Amino acid sequence: MFEDGMPEGAVSPKLSYMAALAGQYLMAENTVADGGHVRTIAAGHYTVAGLSRHVRLGEFVAHRSATGIHLGEVVRVEPELTYVCPIEPGEPIGIHDIVIRKGAFRISPSDSWCGRTINSLGEPIDGLGPLTAGTDSRSISNTAPPSMTRKRVDTGFKTGVRAIDIFSPLCLGQRLGIFAGSGVGKSTLLSMLARANAFDKVVIALVGERGREVREFIEDTLGSHMQKSIAVVATSDESPMLRKMAPLSAITIAEYFRDRGDNVLLIVDSVTRFAHAIREVATASGEPPIARGYPASVFTELPRLLERAGPGPEGTGTITAIISILVDGDNHNDPIADSTRGILDGHIVLQRSLAEEGRYPPIDPLASVSRLARKAWTPDQEKLVSRLKALVHRYEETRDLRLIGGYRQGSDADLDMAVRQVPIIYEILKQTPGERPSADAFTDLATALKNGSVATAQPRAK
Ligand SMILES: Nc1ncnc2c1ncn2[C@@H]1O[C@H](COP(=O)(O)OP(=O)(O)OP(=O)(O)O)[C@@H](O)[C@H]1O
Ligand SMILES: [Mg+2]
Repeated sequence: MFEDGMPEGAVSPKLSYMAALAGQYLMAENTVADGGHVRTIAAGHYTVAGLSRHVRLGEFVAHRSATGIHLGEVVRVEPELTYVCPIEPGEPIGIHDIVIRKGAFRISPSDSWCGRTINSLGEPIDGLGPLTAGTDSRSISNTAPPSMTRKRVDTGFKTGVRAIDIFSPLCLGQRLGIFAGSGVGKSTLLSMLARANAFDKVVIALVGERGREVREFIEDTLGSHMQKSIAVVATSDESPMLRKMAPLSAITIAEYFRDRGDNVLLIVDSVTRFAHAIREVATASGEPPIARGYPASVFTELPRLLERAGPGPEGTGTITAIISILVDGDNHNDPIADSTRGILDGHIVLQRSLAEEGRYPPIDPLASVSRLARKAWTPDQEKLVSRLKALVHRYEETRDLRLIGGYRQGSDADLDMAVRQVPIIYEILKQTPGERPSADAFTDLATALKNGSVATAQPRAK
């Protein structure tokens, strides 16, 4: 029974947590001083009269209806009317229902959340019992630490994925995007990266995924790493509000661990679906689209989210963010891909043509860039990779020529070397999620080239 006399059975099990949460708010405030009444109702949003002077954009409100208490977010404020997007679509809203201001949405992460799967509201969804709230309550709309107080990013780490460790190595606190069309291998690569040993904690936001993939990702790929991981899930059938909140809740949890000195890996699959959710919410509140149907708020929310990742201030840990970006119709210049590429410290490009050849992970070594690679390579490794890229480029640019029989061995020494070595390089870059992560990708490469009877200078170990 809730405080307002409503029997628990009156709301669906899925809504009961939200109702309880909203109920707590209403219990704390028995007054409607910061409240108003529902004025109009439309698909995707409702308006409230009497709240405009009290609320700020992005704050939460609690709404009492005939069947229970529900949360919503303020998405537009006009002098007379406040526009609210309900967290759950289809909640029964009536004209004149009472709506009360609740402020920023907060979660209270704790160490005991490790190993658990939760929804965007911090509610457990793994059937393993209730979660204990920590003592550190944090708004999910936090801002990034001031840039001048942040540590520098200069410590390389091994992901265990050879194609990345050789061609685009990463540093702790880096923000990396994985760009690809649908079904090319983004989630699989993310699951391989989630097993990197360099991290104390792993926080995973699965946004708009199919329900089937969620269990697969968590149970099959994380395995023993689940003990140091927390998954925040909003599947494709959930409301745009919940899908929009999942990465925000995830980064808030990552910040909690970073502030305790941990090196945290944050994975978001996918940022495009986060952008789609923002677009749905914005469209419902009447915000005009400015690029391919996306409203301006998408392009402010993306940097706000991604800036929160990175190194923390001195004395804290880091958040390394690896996010996937679905490029619509394999067009790598769509607005979301374009704007995120500019914010990130590197991008890995997956090519459908490589996946079709069975070259998994289908990472294009020439199109992928880690802007912090120089801090992760030794000088010898950097020289070697620049040589490897030249060979791969030579091999690819002469592909058609060789196919039509225009290549004669002995006429171009560089091309001869490319023809001998590049197939070996491609072979060593292949990796499946079932394989052990590579302990040292450069050693693996040197061994493969040596076994392929091709001499190469083995780079000095870092
Ligand atoms: N490293 C790999 N080794 C073997 N097969 C792979 C690998 N990566 C991807 N695949 C194959 O590609 C399929 C699609 O991969 P995945 O689900 O990761 O793509 P995605 O880009 O996340 O797709 P979506 O856009 O639908 O989310 C997998 O089911 C698997 O068959
Ligand atoms: Mg996927």
